[in-house]
Amino acid sequence: MDYSIETAPLETLECDCIIVGVYQDLQLSPAAAYLNGQTNGLIAAILGRGDISGKNGETVLLTTIPDSTIQRILLVGLGENQAMSNKLFIKALAAAVGGCKKPPIKSVVCCLAECAVDGADATWKTRQIIEVFSDAVYQYTHTKSDKTTESQLAAIRISAMADNAEAAQKGLAQGLAIAEGVGFAKNLADLPGNLCTPSYLADQAIRLGEQFAKLSTTVLEEADMHALGMGSLLSVSRGSRQPAKLIVMDYQGGEKNSKPIVLIGKGLTFDAGGISLKPGLGMDEMKYDMCGGAAVLGTLLAAARLNLPLNIVGMVPSSENMPDGDANKPGDIVTSMAGKTIEILNTDAEGRLILCDTLTYAERYHPDVVIDLATLTGACLVALGRIPSGLLGNDDELCNGLIAASETANDSVWRLPLWEEYQELLKSNFADMANIGGKDAGTITAACFLSRFAESFRWAHLDIAGTAWRTGPAKGATGRPVPLLSQYLLDRASQL
Ligand code: BES
Ligand code: MN
Ligand code: ZN
Repeated sequence: MDYSIETAPLETLECDCIIVGVYQDLQLSPAAAYLNGQTNGLIAAILGRGDISGKNGETVLLTTIPDSTIQRILLVGLGENQAMSNKLFIKALAAAVGGCKKPPIKSVVCCLAECAVDGADATWKTRQIIEVFSDAVYQYTHTKSDKTTESQLAAIRISAMADNAEAAQKGLAQGLAIAEGVGFAKNLADLPGNLCTPSYLADQAIRLGEQFAKLSTTVLEEADMHALGMGSLLSVSRGSRQPAKLIVMDYQGGEKNSKPIVLIGKGLTFDAGGISLKPGLGMDEMKYDMCGGAAVLGTLLAAARLNLPLNIVGMVPSSENMPDGDANKPGDIVTSMAGKTIEILNTDAEGRLILCDTLTYAERYHPDVVIDLATLTGACLVALGRIPSGLLGNDDELCNGLIAASETANDSVWRLPLWEEYQELLKSNFADMANIGGKDAGTITAACFLSRFAESFRWAHLDIAGTAWRTGPAKGATGRPVPLLSQYLLDRASQL
């Protein structure tokens, strides 16, 4: 898809469809008023007939415009004629793309950046248009014989006023980078577990590293991890025919000695549960257990595309979790790289086992902050559903920075407590800790486990079990939290 900023007046533009907003109570946006004038009052007549009331999210597609060179007009309801919230703007955008992705429309001019959105400038609005459009037209085809996509949309021109053009261009660059990162993560995540193995993920990371001078990839093999003493991580991959990989991507955009932001993503390419086997229903969705890893790669792609003046290290521990004669057994005790022993009471709590050694490995990068993202607990779905990602951490400034970024990016998080009192749930009679905390507070006890390996730096954990993919008829990866992390990095870059 080709996105561009358009500052030429509407009457000179040729395209398959012009998207304009209309408000409740028969009120027209400036672009709609202009087109209304060009079409002998057609839009006002349609509103007058009640074919669209102007409620946010409604659409009407006008497919022939009498006595005009305009091909089509898509009217999009925006709600009340006043500054709208971020969420309502995004809802209107989603409706807009929904209204033009099925008809044979290839090129559109979108005039929705002119509407007033609370606290948002042209940069943000432009960027959201790109993010929402590219999210909506994404279609997985890798393993389909028929690769034709439902949408024919090929070019989106975002209409901007001349005095906003610079801000819009900035939004274009951000939107393109973030949408590319999201798309990259979604593509990887939607691949089946037999194709997207730890080796495949590592190859993709190497290829990504080759695309940017400031980005380099190294992959630690099982022998390297063995030498480092990563007994916890390796105990998970021992039950799989696929060798584990620890992908490390180094982006050096900042000052030579500025401390890096470390992003760690769980890269379980398939989680069968191991000997503590998961039930069959819905188990296919455990191919998505590498969404954290995919989001780390996608975020680094966005950061490199934006040439951010930061140092960022992405780490993706990648493995399968399978039942096998050599797999972990309940009651087994392993020794982590940090030297702490872990009693594996449930082999399905494997994410924390691969993450803990990666957290310890991150220490050698002397990080400014460490953020891990993981499809870690089904309990997060019980607590928070599929709207926000769970956020836990040992540093308020970092957590608040992530909360602020999540609001800007419309990629929400909700913080859960990590109080000391929860730590005792991880007590083991036979090792330094157990890998599960019982049936209560599963998301918190998982984070408590990780926190024991994150004591030497500022750390936050995002549980993305409910947000990384959609289930049901629209099953598919979301690319979250690439928008949130990209925003966090943009915010950090702007604070330099
Ligand atoms: N990958 C799963 C978490 C998960 C489950 C994500 C369902 C999304 C949907 C993780 O490895 C896991 O199995 N966690 C266990 C932990 C439990 C054994 C303490 C869980 O959530 O059941
Ligand atoms: Mn599991
Ligand atoms: Zn898992």
